[in-house]
Amino acid sequence: MSTKTVALAADHGGFELKNLLKADLEEQGLEVLDLGTNSSDSVDYPDFAQALAEAILDGRAGRGVLVCGTGIGIGIAANRYPEIRAAIAHHTTDARLCRQHNDANVICFGARTTGPEVARDCLRVFLETEFEGGRHSRRIEKMSKRP
Ligand code: RB5
Repeated sequence: MSTKTVALAADHGGFELKNLLKADLEEQGLEVLDLGTNSSDSVDYPDFAQALAEAILDGRAGRGVLVCGTGIGIGIAANRYPEIRAAIAHHTTDARLCRQHNDANVICFGARTTGPEVARDCLRVFLETEFEGGRHSRRIEKMSKRP
């Protein structure tokens, strides 16, 4: 395991897109950690957000990808952890700016709202874009502990 490992998790609404993104990452030679789910059987997205947050917190992964129907529920659940900055991306500008300005460590997709090609492009941009630091660091620091 390494901080370069990308963890993925999804609920039943997102597992197909999660599997497609996982295959892409593997093809690129990246280490992936698949935390499920792996079928259309109904599950609860907070459980999968928690599994992914824990993988980042304990160092099994450095970045994460979460997918549900909209990306909203699973992102809300992940953002309950002060160390997680989960951003929903609908286009590559979201994916770039959530890294440059927000140092997002998790990207969220809605399988019902975002097509696979857009999600693929967003994930590539998310993984290759660095945090800009500077004035943004102060803001990240303010979010790193509970209010
Ligand atoms: C599951 O039906 C759906 O509510 C979930 O995938 C997600 O869209 C929630 O935000």
